[in-house]
Amino acid sequence: MARRKVYTPESDDVVISLRDVSKQYTKQAAAVTGANLEVREGEFVFVTGETGSGKSTLVKIIMHELKASSGEVNVLGYDLSRIGHGKIPRFRRNLGIVFQDFRLLKDRNVYENVAFAQRIIMVPSAQMKRNVLNMLDMVGMSDKYKRKVTQLSGGEQQRVALARALVNKPLILLADEPTGNLDADTAWEIMQLIDKVNRDYGTTVLVVTHDRSIVERMHKRVIEMKQGEIISDTPAKEEDIDEEEEIFEYQDVDADDLDNYDYDD
Ligand SMILES: Nc1ncnc2c1ncn2[C@@H]1O[C@H](COP(=O)(O)OP(=O)(O)OP(=O)(O)O)[C@@H](O)[C@H]1O
Ligand SMILES: [Mg+2]
Repeated sequence: MARRKVYTPESDDVVISLRDVSKQYTKQAAAVTGANLEVREGEFVFVTGETGSGKSTLVKIIMHELKASSGEVNVLGYDLSRIGHGKIPRFRRNLGIVFQDFRLLKDRNVYENVAFAQRIIMVPSAQMKRNVLNMLDMVGMSDKYKRKVTQLSGGEQQRVALARALVNKPLILLADEPTGNLDADTAWEIMQLIDKVNRDYGTTVLVVTHDRSIVERMHKRVIEMKQGEIISDTPAKEEDIDEEEEIFEYQDVDADDLDNYDYDD
């Protein structure tokens, strides 16, 4: 399947745009104040900052789980201050979302957790099997496709959650503390996987994290928040921006191989 354009420094396709955005939950201090942010197609952005600084609120505004109290929010061309109710599902289809606590369906197996996302958009069954297995393969979980998610480690659960977030090929991946419940090595593995998704598929990535060592090692653009404000925006290190990258095609499992998998449980 043809894939979207990969970000190049010349590209100016803004996919997330916040203009003077504020969010006030109560009459007390605002959770987000006067946030201005532009994220271009194919970028990888970290959002950091102390607890309570407004990171999750910012992510919720971008995914339209929350409406900003003021300001302009535009994501993938959707004006989120004006978007009609009926258009929200179509908007959300472009987003892959990953949380700290995985949020998998505990009574289903690995395969079903990922397939669930495909069923929502009514992908035909043969295609769905291919997509799910490809994505489980990408995150290194295809050999455990029949395993109950309660029988997986935290890192494995997050791999499955990532596969579920990506199987519908979203344009943007939003991850709020995706490694918050994982040990350092597992956290690094998950972050490398997210980096691979960004590089290989050209998916725009926004990751909230507390983990300073990961942020320092990865040399990506970093937004820092403090008391609801974006206090700094540090660009990615030059050498890590690829001039031009080959676009990765989603691999197809050989049709004959599909018969070797048994889905009915
Ligand atoms: N539903 C809510 N109702 C009222 N206040 C809220 C609500 N959610 C968050 N807040 C407040 O808004 C501020 C920002 O919260 P937010 O969850 O965005 O911070 P955060 O940076 O994600 O913190 P953490 O690192 O602990 O996850 C905090 O002061 C918080 O108490
Ligand atoms: Mg948070």
